[in-house]
Amino acid sequence: MAKRTSRFVCQNCGSVSARWAGRCDGCGEWNTIVEELDGGGGVGGAPAGSSVSARRGRVVPLVALSGEAKEAPRIASGIGELDRVTGGGFVRGSALLVGGDPGIGKSTLLIQAAARLASAGHRVVYVSGEEAIGQVRLRAERLGLSAAPVALAAETSVEDILATLQAGPTPALVVIDSIQTLWTELADSAPGTVTQVRTSAQALIRWAKASGATVVLVGHVTKDGQIAGPRVVEHMVDAVLYFEGDGARQFRVLRSVKNRFGATDEIGVFEMSGAGLREVANPSELFLGERDGRSPGTAVFAGMEGTRPLLIEVQALVAPTSLGTARRAVVGWDGNRLSMILAVLEARCGVRLGSHDVYLNVAGGLRIQEPAADLAVAAALVSSLAGVALPAEGVYFGEIGLSGSVRPVARHDARLREAERLGFRAAVTPKNAGGEAAGRDERKGREVPSIGLEVGEIESLSDLVARIAAGSGGRILQRESETREEAPRRSAGGWAR
Ligand code: TYD
Ligand code: MG
Repeated sequence: MAKRTSRFVCQNCGSVSARWAGRCDGCGEWNTIVEELDGGGGVGGAPAGSSVSARRGRVVPLVALSGEAKEAPRIASGIGELDRVTGGGFVRGSALLVGGDPGIGKSTLLIQAAARLASAGHRVVYVSGEEAIGQVRLRAERLGLSAAPVALAAETSVEDILATLQAGPTPALVVIDSIQTLWTELADSAPGTVTQVRTSAQALIRWAKASGATVVLVGHVTKDGQIAGPRVVEHMVDAVLYFEGDGARQFRVLRSVKNRFGATDEIGVFEMSGAGLREVANPSELFLGERDGRSPGTAVFAGMEGTRPLLIEVQALVAPTSLGTARRAVVGWDGNRLSMILAVLEARCGVRLGSHDVYLNVAGGLRIQEPAADLAVAAALVSSLAGVALPAEGVYFGEIGLSGSVRPVARHDARLREAERLGFRAAVTPKNAGGEAAGRDERKGREVPSIGLEVGEIESLSDLVARIAAGSGGRILQRESETREEAPRRSAGGWAR
């Protein structure tokens, strides 16, 4: 019998070492390294410890890059926001990973999608490893989906699941909820370890490719945003969707971070209601719903999420610090990016924020990833510092460079059109680099509608600061020690000056 060796695998990042250590060299996490017996989790999924000798390879045909290529066959789930994120529906023979915090609504979303497809006549299998049959039925009942012909099983053994799937006609969709609960005899390590999760996922993905079924794997996410343990699974699947949102709020955003068959950065917006997840067709209206445009420190960012323009409120609070070091706290945006903007405001625009606490929040529990939000963030910060509300009918977007320049961003016009559609009347933007002039575009043979917003194009951040400072009587550029509490609330001056 072959000698069994063990190896040490980090349960966070999956890196392998020969020795145990308290801290993983790969990701720096503590207490994540677990001993696993070698042999499991190999590409071929050879049984642990077996002494399979490598067979001689066979020659595979090599072909040219050009040639017939077929569009991937898809099945639309009928849930518009989900189909948007997958790029038009589930691709046959592909595997998806749906990640998210516990309780965010992954099971709800997938049982709804499963029921839709099943009701449309497709064979759908839902395997729950976390909940008992009764719990899944209870949820289905609550959602009013009990009548949908979904085939349900509560099972965690990969071998049993595969045997069950192969026994009947091939399903169109298989949901595995969740990948962390699965275990397979192919791997020797304890259930829940990286090796188990990886080997289980591999077996299911291989079956998906071979059978042509779509397999959706559900994965839980740790507090730092990684899919716990099976981060390795992200590389193996065809698409990774994250389901995110603020636990206390009703809306949920499904975001694609990887998609071999479609665009990434596409988002789908849902609202969690008493009767399950409801699609939100006009997310901008939702994110701006509770807006109070008259207080200082709020600015509306005209953003893009994938192909969809989205208006989001950015809120800032700048207050003199009572401690030795100023606090910076940010929710929904990148903290490093905030530091950069504060530095640029200080170095290039003479806005002193060093002795002020700065809090930044993206309303609605959304996470903004675009650098185009820089200008809106800066506007909110300066507005809060000055104690001057920005005009409620205005939107902001633009990337800020370290030199203080305001750089053009993609989809300039699309952002403006969304703002116009929602009743905004003015915008502060960078120079429009790739914009289309209004009127008839002869080359493309179509009419380009004119934009009815009053657009103030600025080239540097100091232009923006000067605009807001004009409304505060230039106070922010002078002394930071002045108490802002006494400042009357005034509205900043005109836009396109
Ligand atoms: P769930 O889908 O079980 O989350 P996950 O699978 O991501 O862990 O969703 C659980 C939460 O959703 C729970 O807190 C209750 C809430 N919920 C509703 O508000 N309405 C509903 O109709 C359902 C089914 C769940
Ligand atoms: Mg669940």
